[in-house]
Amino acid sequence: LEDLLAEGVAGRRVLVRSDLNVPLDGTTITDDGRVRAALPTIRRLAEAGAKVVVAAHLGRPKGAPEPKYSLAPVAARLGELLGAEVRLAGDVVGEQAKSVTGSLADGAVALLENVRFDPRETSKVEAERAELAAEFAALLGEGGAFVSDGFGVVHRKQASVYDVARVLPAYAGGLVLAELEVLSRLTGDPQRPYVVVLGGSKVSDKLAVIEALLPKVDKLLIGGGMAFTFLSAQGHDVGASLLEADFVGTARKLLDEHGDKIVVPVDVVVADRFAADAATDTVGAEAIPAGWMGLDIGPRTVELFAAEVAGAKTVFWNGPAGVFELAPFAAGTRGVAQAIADSGAFSVVGGGDSAAAVRLLGLPEDGFSHISTGGGASLEYLEGKELPGVAVLGEGD
Ligand code: 3PG
Repeated sequence: LEDLLAEGVAGRRVLVRSDLNVPLDGTTITDDGRVRAALPTIRRLAEAGAKVVVAAHLGRPKGAPEPKYSLAPVAARLGELLGAEVRLAGDVVGEQAKSVTGSLADGAVALLENVRFDPRETSKVEAERAELAAEFAALLGEGGAFVSDGFGVVHRKQASVYDVARVLPAYAGGLVLAELEVLSRLTGDPQRPYVVVLGGSKVSDKLAVIEALLPKVDKLLIGGGMAFTFLSAQGHDVGASLLEADFVGTARKLLDEHGDKIVVPVDVVVADRFAADAATDTVGAEAIPAGWMGLDIGPRTVELFAAEVAGAKTVFWNGPAGVFELAPFAAGTRGVAQAIADSGAFSVVGGGDSAAAVRLLGLPEDGFSHISTGGGASLEYLEGKELPGVAVLGEGD
């Protein structure tokens, strides 16, 4: 980004790929963290006189416009935060996009409609993505440039993330650079003890990262829905809790090989159904009643996790410990987050959900060294995978 600013951007159209994939309740943004994180790069370009064209996705529409995935609420929020109107084009690269970007004043900001409304964005066929990328470039005209600032999507080989960087002069944005700098401290030589707290619903989603992290960490604390597959592997009956039966064997193998590092819940909050007004109880991890489901870690587990975290020098946390969106099942996530904030360790919160939990539960954001905007992207980075949206920036234009 600094290179581009040094070249001068006044009067040039600059396409910025941001990750504005925010949680919505209808048309209300429940956590605008990603919009806020996208601001600095957009603002710097606008202040330098660029005509800023922002591209982003929302959710996973199936390659066609769907009103519930419109970026309209995001354009409004972005405008409020910038203190200037952000015009939303009603399409991705169509007539509206051409007219909105064509009439953009120097220093003004426009947002294209959800790039995933165009099936070429996520196409597996490179030629299709390249065609869309060329249309993005055509919107910009002479002097156009691309800034990759959507850290949360750099693990996706998609037209507005990857292919467009091959047809335009491409630069890494400040957010992408800052995220990579922080995460590289975890993969380099982290200060020990290095404790990782993982949660979220599925073991299958996290298996690769678990396998990559185990040799590097001192402790791996497992909460969230995925913990029940591990409890099942220990021979416990998990009732109606989330269980990935196909992964019990893998979980057992991990426990056999790394039992000294892996810490699983010793108690859980169970409910008779998945609802905020369900009947609940707190039981030992070995005593989940038939037909009941575990929806949070229990207080003894919070204490156990907090004790591990308290002694750590480096902590990475990804994935909520329970269904924190429902009040009766929020205490585990809150307790773990608080323990991390209190630990004084170099702490990184990775992931859309855990970052949202920090803010929705009203925890002090400054209690953490870094709250990443990337969910899948930060996990893939820690797995040691190449991030296509970053690698492509090194390839020249
Ligand atoms: C995220 O929410 O992790 C990013 O916005 C990427 O979204 P995706 O998983 O739908 O590609």
